[in-house]
Amino acid sequence: MAKKIVVIPGDGIGKEITDSAVEVLKKADAKFGLGLSYDYYDAGGTAYDKFGTPLPQETIDAAKASDGVLFGAVGGDKWDNVEPTLRPEKAILGLRKHLGLYANLRPVKVSDTLVEYSPLKQEVVKGVDLVIVRELIGGIYFGDRCESEQKDGHERAWDLENYSVPEVERIAKLAFETAKLRRGKVTSVDKSNVLATSRLWRRTVAEVSKGYPDVELDNLYVDNCAMQLALRPTQFDVICTGNLFGDILSDEAAVLGGSIGMMPSASIGECTSLFEPIHGSAPDIAGQGIANPIGTILSAAMLLRYSLHEEAAAKAIEDACDKALADGYRTPDLWKEGFKKANTDLMTEVIVERV
Ligand code: NAD
Ligand code: IPM
Ligand code: MN
Repeated sequence: MAKKIVVIPGDGIGKEITDSAVEVLKKADAKFGLGLSYDYYDAGGTAYDKFGTPLPQETIDAAKASDGVLFGAVGGDKWDNVEPTLRPEKAILGLRKHLGLYANLRPVKVSDTLVEYSPLKQEVVKGVDLVIVRELIGGIYFGDRCESEQKDGHERAWDLENYSVPEVERIAKLAFETAKLRRGKVTSVDKSNVLATSRLWRRTVAEVSKGYPDVELDNLYVDNCAMQLALRPTQFDVICTGNLFGDILSDEAAVLGGSIGMMPSASIGECTSLFEPIHGSAPDIAGQGIANPIGTILSAAMLLRYSLHEEAAAKAIEDACDKALADGYRTPDLWKEGFKKANTDLMTEVIVERV
């Protein structure tokens, strides 16, 4: 029976990068006999323009019924002034919530090929191999909020951060399980010197850690963690943190590998998993055909690994990306003198050839 992949390109560079990843999946399918099928659905600003909603019910239903979702990106200036509940970003937030995707895994691995691309010194980034385990459907992203109210003669707005013990327990367990399969260290990141939610977070993670005596637990405040990521990133194995801190720290960590365009992610939870690059719709380069497709291609590899258990095909795609880079091909975000200039199409082609 065909394995049903739902593809949701979204906005901006979303179509360019998902087209690229599907090309690579098709090559992997031809080689490994995966039996993949692709169904396309709208989400984000594109869906808002067509249907008046950023997340049509049929997109949710199709995603739930699929074997895995490949997501591009949503958002753009065009929709900055639409009603907040109808913003394009509500599409990805809604999908995460509807699919129960409580965990977002964001690996950052600096290969030797790319070590010179980091704006940081080579000796600082060489050997970086970490994964951010970000809580994805709780915290301030999904708490009560008020867009505007009058109080004491002034307009104000507020967003409430809250976490329950079970919400922290399940993400902590996943972080410890992940660390068990890696180098055995979890760094839990919070702001427990200030925030009540963070104190509950730290207490709960400590409780969960008792079930994992072989995994080391370290706690860091988020401000220090932001600094440590730039100062000594090789100290990290698994970083476990809440929704907002995980969002911010993962863009910072993306710089270690040279470009955010390279960073994949897997969102997993109660049913179908979703795979997307960590970057956004990149309106500044959309439509030019120059986006780096590798973050999305590596997300597709994660789909094969986690949702379809096709390890060999996943590895072949990852190796093909490494080889294309080792052979000197670079999209503009990584290009410098002496390397082969590649637009999205050429980068896709050379990766497809190497699968
Ligand atoms: P962004 O990640 O889209 O872009 C930040 C910078 O990185 C830009 O200079 C962009 O050109 C560059 N960049 C990103 N991806 C790239 C790629 N694949 N290749 C080369 N360069 C790349 O972040 P932003 O500009 O803050 O946000 C733009 C829009 O995307 C906003 O509407 C935001 O809400 C949305 N967004 C969506 C998602 C998502 O759909 N999951 C994630 C992040 C941001
Ligand atoms: C991400 C994005 C999203 C987030 C936005 C678009 C809602 O920044 O996936 O990192 O904040 O989670
Ligand atoms: Mn983000």
